[in-house]
Amino acid sequence: MDADFESTLLTADQIATRLDELAQQIVLDIEAATGLSDPEHPHNTLTIIPIMTGSIIFVADLVRRLPLRMRIYPMSASSYPGTATTSRGVTLSSDSRVPDELTGQHVLLIDDILDSGSTLRAVTDELKTRGPDTLHTCVLLRKQRDQAMSFPIDYVAFDIPDEFVVGYGLDYDDQYRNVPQIVTLKPEVAQG
Ligand code: IMP
Ligand code: MG
Repeated sequence: MDADFESTLLTADQIATRLDELAQQIVLDIEAATGLSDPEHPHNTLTIIPIMTGSIIFVADLVRRLPLRMRIYPMSASSYPGTATTSRGVTLSSDSRVPDELTGQHVLLIDDILDSGSTLRAVTDELKTRGPDTLHTCVLLRKQRDQAMSFPIDYVAFDIPDEFVVGYGLDYDDQYRNVPQIVTLKPEVAQG
């Protein structure tokens, strides 16, 4: 598998260190949003909505750093089917368990990467109609391209060059999600 990779953009250690910081910030913010300072208080409950499948590793590592009460409702949205390396439009899944009513809830929407912004726009538009008290957005990676940099987002772990990357949950043709670091593929491997 390693033979498919061109370069490492982020090591597992870099990701872990940054997640510690990000988690602390999220805890402070949810406390501010709810007006409560005790992370154990029962009203300090977060509703985490991870976008499948790319965010699985990120979410698994992030939520274990958040000492807050939470409910997790994964939902699906896909824009890069199979071997595509450019977006093909967003499809939301209808089988998610995200509640129809989000009134009274503090929602944290989590995705792996902010690229064109179409996925997050489609999902935030949908979630807003469900009336959450607060809706925050969080991504592991943001590509340094205009569409991504100008998109309003609350938490970004890392800004990366505008390249196609895999690893730490991100895939190419459903492969490489298990790679512990963020890497680029050799051009002969990724031809989207
Ligand atoms: P957007 O809708 O264009 O912002 O793209 C977001 C989605 O496209 C992400 O959730 C990923 O699933 C996928 N994606 C975008 N860029 C990459 C990449 O570099 N590698 C793997 N998947 C990507
Ligand atoms: Mg995705």
